[in-house]
Amino acid sequence: MSTINVPAIGKPLDRVDGHFKVTGKARHAAEFPANPAYATLVRSTVSSSTITGVDSAEAEAVPGVLGVYSHLQPLPWTENKAFSKEESERGESAMSIRPLGSDKVFYNGQYVAMVVADTLEQAQHAASLVRVSYNGLPPQKDMEPTKTSPFVLEQNLDRAETPKAMKDEPLKRKAGKGEEAFQNAEIKIDKFYTTPWETHNPIEPHATIAEWEGDRLTVFDATQSVGDVSKMLTTAFDIEPGKVRVISKFIGGAFGCKGLAWPHVPLAVAAAKAVGRPVKLLIERHDMFTNRDFRSPTLQRVQLGASREGKLDSVLHSGFSLTAQRDVSVGPFTDSTSMMYAVPNIYLDQKNVRMDICRPTFMRAPGEVTGMYALECAMDELALELDINPVELRLRNHADMDSLKKRPFSSKSLKQCYQLGAEKFGWPQQVPKPRSVRDGRVLVGIGMAGSTYRVNRSPAAAKLVLKADGSVIASSARHDLGTGMYTVMCQLLAEMLGVPIAKIRFDMGDSTLQQAPGGGDSQSVSSVGSAVKAAVDAARLKLMDLVRGDASSPLEGLSSGEVDFVDSSLVSVRDSTKTDSIQAILKRHNQDQLEVSAEASPGPEKKEYAMHAFGAHFCEVRVDEDLGTVRVSRWTCAHACGRIMNEKTAHRQIRGGVVMGIRMALMEETHIDERWGRVITDNLADCHVPAHADIPHIDSYFVDETEHHDSPIGTKGIGEIGITGVAAALANAVHNATGIRFRDLPMTPDKLILARA
Ligand code: MOS
Repeated sequence: MSTINVPAIGKPLDRVDGHFKVTGKARHAAEFPANPAYATLVRSTVSSSTITGVDSAEAEAVPGVLGVYSHLQPLPWTENKAFSKEESERGESAMSIRPLGSDKVFYNGQYVAMVVADTLEQAQHAASLVRVSYNGLPPQKDMEPTKTSPFVLEQNLDRAETPKAMKDEPLKRKAGKGEEAFQNAEIKIDKFYTTPWETHNPIEPHATIAEWEGDRLTVFDATQSVGDVSKMLTTAFDIEPGKVRVISKFIGGAFGCKGLAWPHVPLAVAAAKAVGRPVKLLIERHDMFTNRDFRSPTLQRVQLGASREGKLDSVLHSGFSLTAQRDVSVGPFTDSTSMMYAVPNIYLDQKNVRMDICRPTFMRAPGEVTGMYALECAMDELALELDINPVELRLRNHADMDSLKKRPFSSKSLKQCYQLGAEKFGWPQQVPKPRSVRDGRVLVGIGMAGSTYRVNRSPAAAKLVLKADGSVIASSARHDLGTGMYTVMCQLLAEMLGVPIAKIRFDMGDSTLQQAPGGGDSQSVSSVGSAVKAAVDAARLKLMDLVRGDASSPLEGLSSGEVDFVDSSLVSVRDSTKTDSIQAILKRHNQDQLEVSAEASPGPEKKEYAMHAFGAHFCEVRVDEDLGTVRVSRWTCAHACGRIMNEKTAHRQIRGGVVMGIRMALMEETHIDERWGRVITDNLADCHVPAHADIPHIDSYFVDETEHHDSPIGTKGIGEIGITGVAAALANAVHNATGIRFRDLPMTPDKLILARA
């Protein structure tokens, strides 16, 4: 690695795109002026039905209306295969249902018609006049509409099926004697936990602007994956590869909901083709709840078998999530259980129940976040049963290797996280008995839980341009979801080239740039950063090619392995007086710039090692039993996530995760009308989000950790781990405060008051 002589890696640098954001210059998908027409969508009011008629006469008569479309007035698709099961399983298209493709309705809220008009108001008004009739009302008993609450989910379990492997891991797994071992355990914990339907609510809703110029298509889309959206559109509209450009430079939050091409995207593109004008399609807040985005509710059973000394002998984790009738999605909630503790006997089994709903999708730490809630609450219940400090119980069961896969960890600093978090929080040797600490009317309690998220990395490519004026431009078709990716990539280049940050620009969010995977899975920095490093190595090689035979260069005769970048120059590793600047080399060779592209792919390390980031959360709550309110008064967490690229953006990632986890624990629940499968809390007044007053200062720490195996830049990913374990720590603290164990999230005031009564 090059010498660091500019503020670079690890430093808490302000975001390079910060001034764009606060001055309004960072334009999001909906903000591109293309003088568009507007499309508005009509949604079904029933689930699982057949459309018997679409009356669009009134809508068509509205001034400014350019077209009304439904399955009766077909759209100009060329190919059906973009909406096949194969495509949706590959992840390019979100669903196998072709939008407005037939008279079949699979879920309440599904798009059944679209109006395109000159203005947004005209389109909205006309859409309100489209009359759609259905049969299948009320639905047949065996096709009951969505039953989404975990308890109703339980009534449908006879329909459960084991989904295909997710992320190459089967959903049913076993180690040692599996479930049989539990029967003989000295101490048994056997509990059910539920988590509700949860909906992503980034500040920026989805939006798409589509513009055709002949056979070329440009799309501004609020997406986490310009690559997947462009592939999907290439197939759906049978466009020559290279003639689609999808742009998504700034994203106002995503958390997984913008990871797939949802039906509104091809609809906007088809509308633009149909009316021969650019079309803008804005998704309103209420629709953020219906046609995309949610974390499946779960019903989980955790069984822990342990000795009296607190050594785990068996862990059984089973349960159910739900998915759509046609498309399968699963957040694998037993994954963390497979590797979190040292335990010889493991049995894991997650099943899905198909229902008449839109497909669920990934939501920040899909699987881990619901699974760790159940597992880490069960560990707290075991600690109480054994009268062992919950931190001590976790240390006694610390895993030195992955218990299921029997692989060593590539790096692991969980013990240090427990220690640092406990010390900073002031976690006591003796945890006060439940319901023993009061402050006036208020009950006070403390709780803790571990956190973990797997390390991911995918093949990625990057381009690097070194300019003769001393500036550097690099690019990759990846995204900054608001996480700091632009900043961190500039820091990485600053360190590796010795170029000041101010002279570096990193371009992302354009499908015509070098290919990279979509922004998610906590792997942006590892994947793209590795490609950037490869590009820097390629640039060094190319510069030394220029220097070869150049008698005026002090580096003449050296190989690329004998020089390094320092201060925008190449310098001999052995003799630092021998130096030649990038600018001087390019000028001598009459080049305006030097351009290289490079790819980087992960090696076989994932087959040899278990690769995870770890952490621990500690919190204090104050519970007012008369009002049923839980106030989070203190939060401390410590994480070990390999190399930290930017202390400021990294802590903010973790804090954002904690805020989202506090929401999950205390308020988050999307309610469904179970008669019709319709989301009824489809707005931010009914579906609560925390305000600043709900969140205490979050004291976040990182443990220094060196990861040698994941990527050449030593990062592990921080986007998702922050939310894992949060709800468990909070539920454990509420139990410590009140003596009431909540096994069903969220812990809302009504439940607290009822539990006390
Ligand atoms: Mo994510 S749930 O990988 O955006």
